[in-house]
Amino acid sequence: MGKAVNSSKSSSGLMGWIDARLPVTKAYKEHLSEYYAPSNFNFWYFFGSLSLLVLVNQLITGIWLTMHYKPDAAQAFGLVEYIMRDVPWGWLIRYLHTTGASAFFIVIYLHMFRGLMYGSYKKPRELVWLLGMFIYLALMAEAFMGYVLPWGNMSFWGAKVITQLFGTIPGIGETLLEGIRGDYNVSDATLNRFFALHVVALPIVLLLLVVLHILALHTVGSNNPDGIEIKKNKDENGIPKDGIPFHPYYTVKDIFGVCMFLLIFFMIVFLKPDMGGLFLEHDNYNIADPGSTPEHIKPVWYFTPFFAILKVIPNPFGGMLVMFAAIFALFLLPWLDRSEVKSIRYRLMPFKLAFTAFITSFVVLGYLGMVAWGPGEKLLAQVLTGVYFFYFAFIFFYSKNEKHKPIPERLTH
Ligand code: HEM
Repeated sequence: MGKAVNSSKSSSGLMGWIDARLPVTKAYKEHLSEYYAPSNFNFWYFFGSLSLLVLVNQLITGIWLTMHYKPDAAQAFGLVEYIMRDVPWGWLIRYLHTTGASAFFIVIYLHMFRGLMYGSYKKPRELVWLLGMFIYLALMAEAFMGYVLPWGNMSFWGAKVITQLFGTIPGIGETLLEGIRGDYNVSDATLNRFFALHVVALPIVLLLLVVLHILALHTVGSNNPDGIEIKKNKDENGIPKDGIPFHPYYTVKDIFGVCMFLLIFFMIVFLKPDMGGLFLEHDNYNIADPGSTPEHIKPVWYFTPFFAILKVIPNPFGGMLVMFAAIFALFLLPWLDRSEVKSIRYRLMPFKLAFTAFITSFVVLGYLGMVAWGPGEKLLAQVLTGVYFFYFAFIFFYSKNEKHKPIPERLTH
């Protein structure tokens, strides 16, 4: 990419003055007008820019919510009601933020699904994937702590159950638990530290990781639905023959994606912001009450696949380890998948079956994490947890000498 950037033309006037001190034009070229992206991006390539959009939405609406909220256990629940009823447009700002949280995970899951499908995690994009996984972790921490802030009954009990897991770690558990809660129980002190992390520390970490994620991607270049490296076929000017400038081609495509997304997003915000209890849970319309456990404690939908895995293991410490292993396994994918083929388009049936089973297990576990369990649900969750982990073992052994369809030299359209 470095070669393709035309830095010989120097700008004049104000831009020239700025460029001599901060290379704005150079960065614009490197990352937009002379960033050559594969010409065959499809639907699945909308979700990177949409992730950026929802991130910005969360930051802006979050700042506005913070103007009217206080992290005080005696006031927090009432202040959220005050925002909803009395603050001008407060209801809209809050619904944009709560619906935005779910939209963030929908967009991120689709973004990750694309990466898995087209092998975008593989060499040379391992670091892009790893940084993405750190973003995913930070996002989960951010959402978990945000959920505690309205101080509803599910906020309280959710925080209690999840923080309690850390208390099961042999030796350091008790001390760690007290450190996380800032108290012996989930209390005002917990609310204060979660607020600090939610509005200051984690957003900074997220922003930093996103910048690194995109810089790493622009260093190696984007993958594409064919999983072919376009940099292998360059013209005499060093420009990939199958590449097109990101701006204007993909900025226009992404603006279309943004319009479609906003249409659906605003329909939900205006017509069904709680999504029938899925985005905003019914138990959270009651104030936190340490004396009244909700009938069925469960996290918001985006955590439920991991919550189901946690519940499958009878021992809480074991459950926590298996749950973290389920997330950690995704970090290892670039090294577990050893095949030379990237895209699912050129992989054979055994891969397609295993991949479908893996995705299905994740989705059904997500459903199971939301409902009460009888023996049938428990058995199904056990089997699906097995299927989930099986995928990682399968990909490791299967990809060693994987047979595949012929991979074309140039992109197909
Ligand atoms: C705030 C969260 C995130 C933002 C803003 C973000 C942004 C982006 C953008 C703008 C792109 C380029 C456009 C595209 O390929 O769609 C991209 C590519 C990519 N992202 Fe993310 N991302 C986020 C989270 C993640 C996560 C959680 C993962 C996976 C663990 C991930 C993995 C990838 C991969 C592998 C690529 C390269 C895809 C390819 O070239 O085929 N990202 N990301």
